[in-house]
Amino acid sequence: MNNPTPAPFTPPCFEFDGQPVPLQPGDTILQAAQRAGHDVPHLCWHPDVSASASCRVCTVQVDGRPVAACTTTAAAGQRVQCHTSELRTHRLHLLQMLFVEGNHFCPGCEKSGNCLLQEQAAQAGMTELHYEALNPERPVDASHPDVLFEPNRCILCQLCVRASDEIDGKQVFAIGGHGIGTRLLINSESGQLGDSNLDVTDRAAHICPVGALLPKRVGFAVPMGQRTYDNEETRG
Ligand code: SF4
Ligand code: FES
Repeated sequence: MNNPTPAPFTPPCFEFDGQPVPLQPGDTILQAAQRAGHDVPHLCWHPDVSASASCRVCTVQVDGRPVAACTTTAAAGQRVQCHTSELRTHRLHLLQMLFVEGNHFCPGCEKSGNCLLQEQAAQAGMTELHYEALNPERPVDASHPDVLFEPNRCILCQLCVRASDEIDGKQVFAIGGHGIGTRLLINSESGQLGDSNLDVTDRAAHICPVGALLPKRVGFAVPMGQRTYDNEETRG
């Protein structure tokens, strides 16, 4: 008797904006959707460190319930919506609040063109701040010989905190304070970066998605117009 032809293997899938997305064990919604070529807006997520779900820019709806795509485990049969008008508006307001909470003058920032906040704002169609700018005046920390810290651009994504802890094994950074007073703290006696044990070769010195932590003396090494988000081909 002939063996029956085995049925083709169909991996478990969930639905992302109406498209089937295959799953691998342990996938978050963001990981699986990105692997399948979908854009999931995000700020505080990075593939090299654990997820913190602090920015909420990656919010999607799973069967109508809002969740963070970067920390929610994907499951077969889920119906995930990401690019609805309601979620686009939610993301736009989050981004506008981040812009007014700090000082983000993109044309004068070395990170322009490589900045994920600037890119997400462009993708969200942000053309105005909408909210009143708080115009904080936090002193720039230029005390480190090789790395500049510009706290007015810090969006408290905690990527440097996690990179220093999980990759560099140092814990140079921490988040402190509450509400509008929440700040990135430097783990040194003076609270200055120059007194910490941060090294310019540390991963934490290079993971900042905005222009808050910048290695010194390499400004404009890549000209404007040739940066990560300057053209469609290099966009994530
Ligand atoms: Fe995030 Fe950069 Fe602020 Fe660190 S310095 S919390 S990486 S924005
Ligand atoms: Fe998911 Fe920030 S990227 S909460």
